[in-house]
Amino acid sequence: MTGTPLPRLAPGSTIGMLGAGQLGRMTALAAARLGYTTHVYAPDAADSPASQVSAAATVADWDDLDALERFARSVDVVTLEWENVPVATVEHLRRFTAVHPGPNVLSVAQDRIAEKSFVNALGIATAPWRPAGSADDVARAVAEVGPRCVLKSTRLGYDGKGQARLDGGDGAAAAWAAIGGGKAGVEGIVEGFVTFACEVSVIVARGGDGAMVAYPAVENRHKDGILDVTIAPARVTPETAAEADRVARRIAEALDLVGVLAVEMFVTPDGAVLVNEMAPRPHNSGHWTMDACASDQFEQLVRAVCGLPLGSVERVADAEMTNLIGDDVLRWPELLAEPGARLHLYGKAEARPGRKMGHVNRLVPRR
Ligand SMILES: Nc1ncnc2c1ncn2[C@@H]1O[C@H](COP(=O)(O)OP(=O)(O)O)[C@@H](O)[C@H]1O
Ligand SMILES: [Mg+2]
Repeated sequence: MTGTPLPRLAPGSTIGMLGAGQLGRMTALAAARLGYTTHVYAPDAADSPASQVSAAATVADWDDLDALERFARSVDVVTLEWENVPVATVEHLRRFTAVHPGPNVLSVAQDRIAEKSFVNALGIATAPWRPAGSADDVARAVAEVGPRCVLKSTRLGYDGKGQARLDGGDGAAAAWAAIGGGKAGVEGIVEGFVTFACEVSVIVARGGDGAMVAYPAVENRHKDGILDVTIAPARVTPETAAEADRVARRIAEALDLVGVLAVEMFVTPDGAVLVNEMAPRPHNSGHWTMDACASDQFEQLVRAVCGLPLGSVERVADAEMTNLIGDDVLRWPELLAEPGARLHLYGKAEARPGRKMGHVNRLVPRR
């Protein structure tokens, strides 16, 4: 599928960024390297990781229509680093400027049920799943998908939050309560638990003309529901790596994505790939590309939304990325002293437990 090339925005143009966290920061840094400036918009944009390195920041709510209009009129294109920006916000911005990725992509990626339905409709496998709107639904779903399963809130989950493990129907009421079931707007999805050999992700960049590039599948290890280490490339068979690549490209194409998409997948013991979830933005599992690839994932986002040719995903080395969570960041002096360790810190003042404070990339010769 090919699309219409986007208007090319020359260096010197301003990129609007929805969201003010570390992904916005690293995108703004990539933009600056190419001569673009960034204007961040978020309710929490004040002294944020992204605003610290951007030319401008608007601190306003997602439903502040006047602030959104002023922001949209002050930039040349809008992108985002957080897929949960309300669709109505993006619809409003689009009256004044282009927003990539668009509302159709966000509405799929914001809701686990919409996401899995979309993926399954493409003939791509996921864990078995059922929607659940009550504790009784959860118990019924457990009977259908099998006793070992995970109940997740359909919206706004991240880093393992909004999830409860189940082993049989007995825990249905407790699991439903644990994810906030019964509160306004909370809906659930029960997923069969996948006994995976490993977890992988593929990051695809796609331009308005339909051109695509994808980084090789990488292997992700989680600790306490949070990404801990990414090993690039993944230690899987060439067939599994090719299937993961095909799946991610197929989804990006079907979404008519302009920007960057990360697809998280489980690899089963027999090498099959099941999609877990996706994020239409740069992703923690792509941070290794900052030091190991010709163009990193953040630069790809800038290129895609500015109508530039996509960059090379060529890998100059293999890599291991380790997240610095909470107090891990206190190790910065020893990491700086370690030859070859590439330290990236996000400028967050307070090292709260579970908070992503930075990461370190270590390059190793290509396998
Ligand atoms: N159905 C499942 N089977 C096995 N493990 C799962 C399943 N769903 C989630 N997990 C584990 O929990 C992690 C976080 O879940 P995920 O759905 O990716 O939510 P998020 O990353 O948004 O918190 C996954 O990377 C995986 O390690
Ligand atoms: Mg995830």
